[in-house]
Amino acid sequence: MKATATAPSNIAFIKFFGKMNEELRLPVNTSISMCLSDAFTTTTVEFSPDYLSDSIEMTDGILSRAEKERIVEHLDRIRKIAKNRLFAKVVTRNSFPKSSGIASSASGFAALTLAASSALNLNLNEKELSIIARLASGSASRSIPDGFVEWKKSNTSQESYAYSLYPPDYWDIYDIVVVVEKESKPVTTTDSHKLAAGSPFYKTRIIDMDNKVKTFKHALKRKDFHLTGEIIEGEALNMHAVMLTSHPPLLYWTEKTVSLMKEVWQWRKNGTEVYFTLDAGPNLHLICEEKTVKNILSNLGKSFGQCEIIVNKPANGARLI
Ligand code: PMV
Repeated sequence: MKATATAPSNIAFIKFFGKMNEELRLPVNTSISMCLSDAFTTTTVEFSPDYLSDSIEMTDGILSRAEKERIVEHLDRIRKIAKNRLFAKVVTRNSFPKSSGIASSASGFAALTLAASSALNLNLNEKELSIIARLASGSASRSIPDGFVEWKKSNTSQESYAYSLYPPDYWDIYDIVVVVEKESKPVTTTDSHKLAAGSPFYKTRIIDMDNKVKTFKHALKRKDFHLTGEIIEGEALNMHAVMLTSHPPLLYWTEKTVSLMKEVWQWRKNGTEVYFTLDAGPNLHLICEEKTVKNILSNLGKSFGQCEIIVNKPANGARLI
């Protein structure tokens, strides 16, 4: 009873920020993302009567006790559905460093969901996998389907799942991750969601969301890079404005984050069309089209040459291997 799965991380263009139901991880708003080609997790899960407890190993790093507990909790969810009580051995590795500004919980829990459910012969469809992955990490629901993905808000668990809007080859959009800080973040993403509602700007953010999602989907449909980029960057700043004004305030940016943001604005003024986004952390994702990648990498070499850089294209979602 063994299976191996691989799943990409994803970058949210419209962010999931704030939950309407903590336990079921139901988001307050719909979010839209792109699966990342060069940031994925590969996980093998084996259930066996020979195992006397669950064991979890990460071959490229160390998992904290809390992280291991979160994995066992997710195995329990899947065991409950399969009506199976066998213990499991989990071996996992990421293609990218932890704390790089790439969500390892998204790729990690998507790969775990597919590998564990397949090892237990559950034969779940994409919607079911997305719902179960969501229970472990909201953004993991978006790492199950391919390419450009929408995760629907809903007040019921069965209706809040992610599905593919377009396959990876729909549009050659690039996500260049610039790791300006390698240190772990002081406040976890899970905790940041809880603080959101304390900001006086949170209500305004949510009131505007349905319109923003609609306009963004329209821009994506027309492959209008200018509008797409404007919305992506504005959305990231909007989410961070809420973080900055929550209680206590959350500031993930460092001097290098701000300095790169300003560079991006300057490059844009000089005619290179590129936009930034960032999640709950200091590292930036630069979104551009294929024709500008070379130019951006050369610009980065001048001022951010010492930073690790990961170049991603749109990718498929979770797969068994
Ligand atoms: O899925 P979580 O609980 O790790 O939350 C992800 C939140 C953001 O990364 C800030 C935004 C997003 O939609 O990915």
